[in-house]
Amino acid sequence: MNTNIYKHTPENIHKAAQTILDGGLVAFPTDTVYGLGANVYNPKAVAAIFEAKGRPTFDPLISHIAEIDFLSEYAQTDERVIALAKHFWPGPLTFVLKRKDHNPSLDLVCSGLPHIAVRIPNHPLALELIKTSGVPIAAPSANKFKCISPTTAQHVADSLGNKVDMILDGGPCKIGVETTIIDLTTPEIFMLRAGGLSKEEIEDFTGEKVIISSGDPNKPSAPGQLLKHYAPKMPMRINVLEEDVRPDEFFIGFGNVKNAQLNLSPSANLNEAAANLFAYMRQAETHTEYKGIAVSPIPETGLGLAINDRIRRASFDK
Ligand code: TXA
Ligand code: MG
Repeated sequence: MNTNIYKHTPENIHKAAQTILDGGLVAFPTDTVYGLGANVYNPKAVAAIFEAKGRPTFDPLISHIAEIDFLSEYAQTDERVIALAKHFWPGPLTFVLKRKDHNPSLDLVCSGLPHIAVRIPNHPLALELIKTSGVPIAAPSANKFKCISPTTAQHVADSLGNKVDMILDGGPCKIGVETTIIDLTTPEIFMLRAGGLSKEEIEDFTGEKVIISSGDPNKPSAPGQLLKHYAPKMPMRINVLEEDVRPDEFFIGFGNVKNAQLNLSPSANLNEAAANLFAYMRQAETHTEYKGIAVSPIPETGLGLAINDRIRRASFDK
């Protein structure tokens, strides 16, 4: 058992907030996945995130804040941004906004870009940590670069072990895939990454089409768009019907299938499937008696978009 996993107690929240202010790294739960957090205003601490994850370049990080009122102090906002924030925050949605003023200590968090990514997570422990620290917390998913995102404290310990000062345990993440990222720096809304909030929900609220960013996936504006990402250690095949699963494949099913080793959601509920996805990919790769992983077809609606995106990237060969 890893000794740097801490329970949700007031003392541990204070200790974690102090660790953030002292320039340390704290992994914490959010509604989507666990994050590896540092004080956004401390570039040395932010650099330690990249080092711990083994990210080869400095990709921009999401700032986690606790209150909508703070957003206008932190980034450029307008009526559309505030309306979206009031409707969807706290929740699984990240905004890319124009930076407010050129605060050089935020350069590393933004990778030198004129834009900044911000969200309010819907998790009491994350919100307490941010409020007690009194600073926004920069956090990517708390896993090694290109590995599966963590949805439990133990996943973080397995992936980052002693590279993190504290891991706050808030139980399994409810949503299980990362946030949907939308770019609000242009009159249109571009979706940079499919995630825990469906495109349809954003469109229903705004009454506008959300445009899926068509950037070259290998020169991404959001590195989550890299084709090979979220990789399990075994080759993975997608859209596999039950009758086509090979004898040497570990089968992750969806819906009404009989012979799956694991089923993302026997009742074909996409939210349940998203919550189980990363944990099941991890479980599958521990079964070294198999040569590969086969996954059932998943409908391309609602959270199915994010689930299929993660599975496609995990199965991308090369
Ligand atoms: O659910 C989540 O979003 C989790 C939890 C911990 O909040 N975080 C997460 O962070 O998935 P990360 O670093 O693994 O993915 C953040 C994505 C990256 O693909 C990054 O390129 C993009 O956000 N991003 C951050 N700042 C950006 C910016 N200024 N412009 C465009 N993309 C940005
Ligand atoms: Mg990530």
